[in-house]
Amino acid sequence: MKLTKIWQVVAATGLVSLAAFAQAEDTIKVGLIAPFSGPFADYGKQMDAGIKTYMKQYGDKVAGKRIEIIAKDTTGPVPEVAKRLAQELVVRDKVDFLAGFGLTPEALAVAPIAEQAKKPMIIMNAATSIITTKSNYIARVSMTLPQISGPMATWAVKNGVKKVVTLVADYGPGIDAETAFKTNFIGGGGQVLESIRVPLRNPEFAPYIQRIKDAKPDAVFVFVPAGEQGIAFMKGYRERGLAEAGIKVIATGDLTDDHVLPVMGDATLGVITTFHYSAAHNSPENKAFLKNFAEANPNGGRPNFMAVAAYDGMAAIYEVARKLNGKIDGDKAMAVLKGMKINSPRGPIQIDPVTRDVVQTVYVRKVEKVGNELYNVEFDKFTNMKDTGK
Ligand code: PHB
Repeated sequence: MKLTKIWQVVAATGLVSLAAFAQAEDTIKVGLIAPFSGPFADYGKQMDAGIKTYMKQYGDKVAGKRIEIIAKDTTGPVPEVAKRLAQELVVRDKVDFLAGFGLTPEALAVAPIAEQAKKPMIIMNAATSIITTKSNYIARVSMTLPQISGPMATWAVKNGVKKVVTLVADYGPGIDAETAFKTNFIGGGGQVLESIRVPLRNPEFAPYIQRIKDAKPDAVFVFVPAGEQGIAFMKGYRERGLAEAGIKVIATGDLTDDHVLPVMGDATLGVITTFHYSAAHNSPENKAFLKNFAEANPNGGRPNFMAVAAYDGMAAIYEVARKLNGKIDGDKAMAVLKGMKINSPRGPIQIDPVTRDVVQTVYVRKVEKVGNELYNVEFDKFTNMKDTGK
């Protein structure tokens, strides 16, 4: 190669790397880790749609920096994949934040990486209580199962439910839900006839539903991860005639997830759940959110709680960026996150300054027809609820 040619190459690469450097300097990178394929693919899609909503509304620049989202697909509750993706995001992409986490096993696998790399890790769904204790760099803006399930039990005992069977997915959030529900239900004078745990992957509900019918409770309390499993459970409940046998469904709002509720059918009418977000939440903030969500995601369907948590997670990230003038440092970011208040579409929320977990209102809702469509209509609430599982 001639000398001039070499110099041309050097000059060209120099320019390229300078440009890359300038770009890195001007960007705040958010690594989004969630399932985008497989049975839990909707989790990643809802989060992505919530993030797009926020960025359409508030722009992709904050504190003079451009926000860049780097999305990675865990394919489901596969800890090794989540861990590898987090390592890549930290080492290769040099992200400033880790975010997402639809499923507890993803969050638990990534916590040690956040701790080691001092990367703020924003939990946009994963809801097992202990997650926030696994690193000082974790803040949660979604919910915890104890926070949601305790109020369901309290409401049920006060409203004439005396005997229940519990049915939960057999992993962290399910066990948390069962424990918190039982504590408040038995504490309030109720009786738990049987506690059933079903596999996280592809549960076959029919035999469990028969067991529930045979136990003759007043109600069955259910936690299954949002989405297809709720549809499958309600199908079995309908087909085996539990409603006719006088057995009611009470559940965490994961069962009647807004995203799948429209296709669940009239068997869900009257199902009572407790939860932190309903698309039917009546507030100006939620109306604006629904409108912006539809504009930012023309084929996105109805937003659910994961879309809202992702939207709020972005609000938290933008606020950190503003407070730190665009220079993200892990410890300083956590100091900003602790105690942060966000005016969410679900109502006001706060990140607890001590536990870094979300504090919020838990609503009691009933599935009703609004116009022609099924919605979770809020009719009672427990304000200022913290996680009670730790
Ligand atoms: C979780 O794995 O933490 C999880 C997944 C789906 C839900 C709630 C919690 O609906």
